[in-house]
Order: sequence, then structure tokens, then C-alpha cells
Amino acid sequence: MKSHQILIAGQWTAAESGECIEVENPGRKTIIGEVPRAAKADVDKAVAAAAAAFTQWKRVPPRERGRLLLDIATKLDDNLDQMAITIAEETGNAIRTQARPEAKAAADIFRFFAGLGGELKGEVIPLNDDMLSYSRREPIGVVGAIIPWNAPVLLAALKIAPALCAGNTMVLKAAEDAPLGVLLLAQACHDVLPSGVLNVLTGYGAECGAAIAEHPGIRKLSFTGSTAVGKSIMRAASDRIVPVSLELGGKSPSIVFPDANEDWVVDGVISAMRFTRQSQSCTAGSRLFVHKDIFDDFIEKLATKAAALNMGDPLDEQTDMGAIINRKQFEKVCGYVEQGLALPDATLVTGGMPATEGPLSEGYFARPTVFAGTGNDWRLAREEIFGPVLVAIPWSDENEVLQMANDSHYGLAAFVWSRDIGQAMRTAHEVESGWVQINQGIGQIPGQSYGGVKQSGLGREYSLESMLSSFTQTKSVTVNLNIPSPDR
Ligand code: NAI
Ligand code: MG
Repeated sequence: MKSHQILIAGQWTAAESGECIEVENPGRKTIIGEVPRAAKADVDKAVAAAAAAFTQWKRVPPRERGRLLLDIATKLDDNLDQMAITIAEETGNAIRTQARPEAKAAADIFRFFAGLGGELKGEVIPLNDDMLSYSRREPIGVVGAIIPWNAPVLLAALKIAPALCAGNTMVLKAAEDAPLGVLLLAQACHDVLPSGVLNVLTGYGAECGAAIAEHPGIRKLSFTGSTAVGKSIMRAASDRIVPVSLELGGKSPSIVFPDANEDWVVDGVISAMRFTRQSQSCTAGSRLFVHKDIFDDFIEKLATKAAALNMGDPLDEQTDMGAIINRKQFEKVCGYVEQGLALPDATLVTGGMPATEGPLSEGYFARPTVFAGTGNDWRLAREEIFGPVLVAIPWSDENEVLQMANDSHYGLAAFVWSRDIGQAMRTAHEVESGWVQINQGIGQIPGQSYGGVKQSGLGREYSLESMLSSFTQTKSVTVNLNIPSPDR
């Protein structure tokens, strides 16, 4: 078992306490390494290092900062295999469908933001001829970033690249369940960046994450994870009025119109549900609304395709779908399946409780599961399950389906399926969510702002605008062009 270290002030080090956290491969329930259990003392050191580095880093010309981010992207590309294997091992996400694409996407995010250094521009405001008023986009300072385990390296890249491009420095905490890929990413950054610009900690949320959220030296908080923790981050931020970005949960609707009873739509619904990431995705289209005229036929096709997904060892290239991250989440998912099985109105169409013997009982493998019936008000249909449990609900009237789709405290993603593009676009405009896809269920692409409405979050990521709004602050400078001539 390998012991890993955290990165503070350009040094690899243990936690002050000397304690560690074990990291498990959820596909095999074996311990694959241990990482430092960082807490407040380590956060203090990391924030001090980031604050010291900020005085220099903010003065590095933006395009030069971008060039360094490009070097990180190249290093990530050169080390893609090791990264993909590490992600698959620690997250349980299948290497072919998830882990390798994630490793590539992380490099791509660095490459995208690397090119945006020259876009950190201000504006000139025409107040009047005697005055020049211009604005500057200045970095905020030390950013505290906290990320989850479901796409750990990609989500780390999505915080680090824009924040650093904009001239901030950072203290980032990896999730305790998936820190190893993030530490590899930290190594690539460490090879390229000045000491202290990026500090990466591993530790528990309540000790290390909360210490970041509450640290007076941190000037901006960027969090991805559960809505409950997001609220605690926002409360901590309110004490000292620091800006927050929150990417939180979802219970996203997928709306199928009667003209869309086709195989490519079924494939799209499966992709939107992120079954191949065990649906541990904030954008999972986990509430499926299918028009009643095609409901039975569509659900049957869906069940057949979902059941055909090849579940197994995340490191096997043949595997489509891997394991749930840990025992706690696995038991939570099983609890929702039990609830569905106990509901008199719910019909189990495919899936159900996990295997209790054979190879699939050796990891946290949850079967792709579909419940059909009525009930947008079921707990199954309201709560984020974060596992491969899809609820299918029939609808008959366009207004009714919109009302059901919007009857959620979440508003992250949505998916609309119809050959009638006008109808699909009208629906997209009425759905309360930050991102609607029509006739596809793919992942985010850099360039397009992404984020939630309602309790799914605050702020946007993935784009130039998001870098400017999340990681810079505007200063206005107003110059009097008409000062009196000097008295002679
Ligand atoms: P979580 O929100 O507890 O964990 C996310 C990150 O926050 C981790 O790094 C964790 O250490 C940190 N954290 C936890 N408590 C904290 C605190 N008090 N202060 C500061 N940081 C803290 O999520 P968890 O427990 O791993 O998963 C629970 C549920 O959250 C999932 O079932 C899912 O519904 C949701 N979730 C949503 C994600 C998303 O991408 N929107 C990602 C992960 C989880
Ligand atoms: Mg793990």
C-alpha cells in the first residue's frame, strides 16, 4: 500500500497530525493507498503559502500564466494512462467509458483556459470627454476549492485552471474517497508552477473542508458537492462576505415526446442518465417523463438496453459500468431500490437489488434499475439518489409535464427529446434548469457556461464568462482629464 503526501508551499509533506486516511478500490473492496488526514493546522500553512505566492503570481503577465497552464496540459497528456488507471481504481468508474475520457477532459480544460489569459480585459466607459473611466479585471486572492469524488480530476481541473489563469492562487481539498488522481494532477502542476500557487490537501470534509470554508485568509470559495454541504459553505462565507460558487445536486428531467419513440432516443436517455458512471453525476437525467402513447414500448426498449450494460471490474476494458464509490453510498442506493420495491404503484422494469454472490458481490456494484409508474411526488422522484435508479413517469399534456419537470427544488440539467424542434425548444425555454440539451445527453464541453438554478447552485463554470465572473473582481478607475493648468 502506497503512502501519499500533500502539496503545501511547493513541498510534498505529511499532515501535521501524522494521521492518514485509507483509500479503497470500490470495485474490489481493497485498500490501494493512504493519504494524509489534513486538518486546520495544514489548512493554515497552505493558506499562508498561497497568500505569499499571490503577491508574485498576480504580476505574472496573464498570457504567461496561460503558457504554464498549457505545459500542465501537455504533462497530463503524456501521463494519460497512469491517470486513467488511478481514476478507475479509486473511483470505481470504468476505464473505457469514464476514467480515460475524464483524464483527457482534464487536460483539455487546462488547454482551454490556457488560451484565455489575453481575455482578462476590462472596459472603457464613456462618462464624458473630460473623464476616462476604465475597469480592470483583478484576481481575488487565495481561492479555497473543495471537490467531490465522482469526477475528481476533471472537477479539480475545472477549479484550478480558470482560477490560476485569472491570477489567483489556491488551496484545494480533494475528496477523501478519491484523492489519488487529484494528487497526480497536483504533481503535474507542481512540476510547472511556482511554489505555493497551488496547494493540494487531502482530508475529511468536517475537519479539512470546514477549515477552508472558515479560513479568514481565503477570499473566494468554490465548491462542488452536495446541496447540504453547499449551504454550510455559503453560511461560512456570509460571516466574512466572501463570494461563493456552488455546483450542487440535481434531479434532472428527461422529457420524451410521442414522436421520439426511437432507438437513438433510448440510447440518449441512457447516456443522459449517466448509467456508465453508475449515475453518480449531478447532471443525471434521473426523472424520465415519457408520453403515455409510447410509454410501455419505450420503457421496454430502455429496460432491454440498460440490462445489457456490461457491469464489472472498472479496470477491464470491456466494462461499461463500474462500482459505486463506497459502502455508504452503496447502501444509500440500495435503500432507494428497497423503497421502490415496497411501493405498491411502482413497477420494477429492470435491475433491482444487487448481487449477493458471484464476482459482482466483491465490489459495490449496483444494477441499472428502472421503476415505472406514476408519482412525481415519490421520494424516489424527488431526492437525488446519485446511483443508477431511474424513475419513469408517464404524461399526456405538455403543460402537465412541464409542471412536473419544474416541481423540484433542483434545477441543474434537463433533456428534451422530439423531432419537432420548435416544440422541443419551447419546452427547453420553459424548463427551470441551468442547462437543457435537445436530442442528446452528452457531457459538458469547455466554452459553454454550465451551472444550476434553484438549489442546484450559484455561478457558472466551463467558460470565459465563468472565469471572469467567478475568479476576478472588477475595479473601476476614473481619471480626470481636465485638471487645471499648474499655477506659475
Ligand atoms: P459531500 O458534499 O459531503 O462531499 C463533497 C466534498 O465536500 C468532499 O470533498 C467532502 O470532504 C467535502 N465536505 C463534506 N463536508 C464538508 C463540510 N462540512 N465543510 C466543507 N467541506 C465538506 O458529498 P458526499 O457525502 O460525498 O455525497 C453525498 C451526496 O452528495 C451524494 O449522494 C450526492 O447526492 C451528492 N453529491 C453531489 C455531487 C455533485 O457533483 N453535485 C458530488 C458528490 C456528491
Ligand atoms: Mg475510493
